[in-house]
Amino acid sequence: MTQPKITQPDRMRLLVTGGAGYIGSVCAARLVEAGHDVVALDDLSTGHRDAVPAACRFIEGTVEDAGAVLAEGFDGVLHFAARSLVAESMAQPQRYWLGNVVASLRLLEAMREHGTPRLVFSSTAATYGEPASVPITEEAANQPTNPYGATKLAIDHAIGSYATAHGIAAVSLRYFNVAGAYGRYGERHTVETHLIPLVLQVALGRRNKIMVFGEDWPTPDGTCIRDYIHVVDLADAHERALVQAVPGEHRLYNLGNGTGFSVQQVIDTCRQITGHPIPAQCAPRRPGDPAVLIAASDRAHCELGWKPERADLAVIVADAWEFARRVG
Ligand code: UFG
Repeated sequence: MTQPKITQPDRMRLLVTGGAGYIGSVCAARLVEAGHDVVALDDLSTGHRDAVPAACRFIEGTVEDAGAVLAEGFDGVLHFAARSLVAESMAQPQRYWLGNVVASLRLLEAMREHGTPRLVFSSTAATYGEPASVPITEEAANQPTNPYGATKLAIDHAIGSYATAHGIAAVSLRYFNVAGAYGRYGERHTVETHLIPLVLQVALGRRNKIMVFGEDWPTPDGTCIRDYIHVVDLADAHERALVQAVPGEHRLYNLGNGTGFSVQQVIDTCRQITGHPIPAQCAPRRPGDPAVLIAASDRAHCELGWKPERADLAVIVADAWEFARRVG
C-alpha cells in the first residue's frame, strides 16, 4: 500500500472518469488548457468518443478498470462517471447501487492501493431531497427522495471515511442544475430529460413542443424554480477544488448561482435567444420534483475563492443554443 503524497504541481497527471460525458468532457478540456496531463476513462455507455478532448489519452473502460490505470501513478482523480437519471433510478435502483456506489468503492480502493492523493467527486443537490428552506446550505439535512440522490450521498460518506483514514485530499461538489456549453463540448444525451436541451430541441424542430411539468406549484408563475449554473463555472470550481484539497479532509461544496429561474422564465429566455416561438403545453407534475431548488454557495465563494462569471441565464442559454445548432 502506498501512502498518498501530496505536492502542488502546476502540471498534474489526472484521471477523469466519465471524460466522454457532458460535464466530464468540459472539465477535461479546461484542465488540459490549464496545462494538466489528462487521461479520460469512459465506457461510452452514455458518453461520446468524439467528446474527449484531442489532447487527452482515452481509455475505453469502466470505473472498475481504474485500478490498472492508477497503477501508472496519478496526482488526482476527477470522478464524473455515473448513472444520473432520477426516473431510471426509481425503476432500476440496482443500476445505481452497483453502477454508482460499488464502482466508486472500487475506485476508492484503487486510489488507496496506488497512493493517489486527490479526489474531486461529482455529488448532487439531489442528496438534500425536498428542502426545508431555500437557499440550501451544506448544513441542510440529507434526505434524498430517489435512489440517484441516495447513491451519491452514500459515496460522499465513503469518501469522507477514506479521506480521514487514508489521507486522501477529497472534495465533493454538489451540483445544482448544470447547463450551457463550452464550444464543441456540450450536453448530448441519448435520453434527454433536462429542461434547457429539451426546449432547444423544439427550436431546432426536433420536437413539436415542450411539456411543462406542472403550472400549479407554490411559486410566482406556478412553475418550478431551479438554480442553473454554467458548466464552465462548474469546471472552474473543479480546478479550484483539485488544487485546494487538503490531505485527510473531505470538503463539500454546493455549486449554484444562488438565483432561481422558473420553467416559464427558462422557456421565455430560450424564445428570446433562438427567435423561435417554442410552443409549450402544461403537463402533470413530474413525481419527485421539488418546487424550488436554490443553492447557497457561500462556502465555495469563501473557501475556494470561486465566483461564477456566467450566471446570466441568457448567457447559459446562448452557449447551449450555439452547441445545439452545432450538433443539430
Ligand atoms: N421540466 C419540464 N419539462 C421537461 C423537463 C423538465 O417542465 O420536459 C422541469 C422539471 O419539472 C424541473 C425543471 O424543468 O422543474 C428542471 O428539470 P431538469 O430535469 O432539467 O432538472 P432537475 O431539476 O430535475 O434535475 C437536476 C439534475 C439532477 C439532479 C437534480 C437535483 O439534472 O441530476 O437536479 O434535484 F438530481
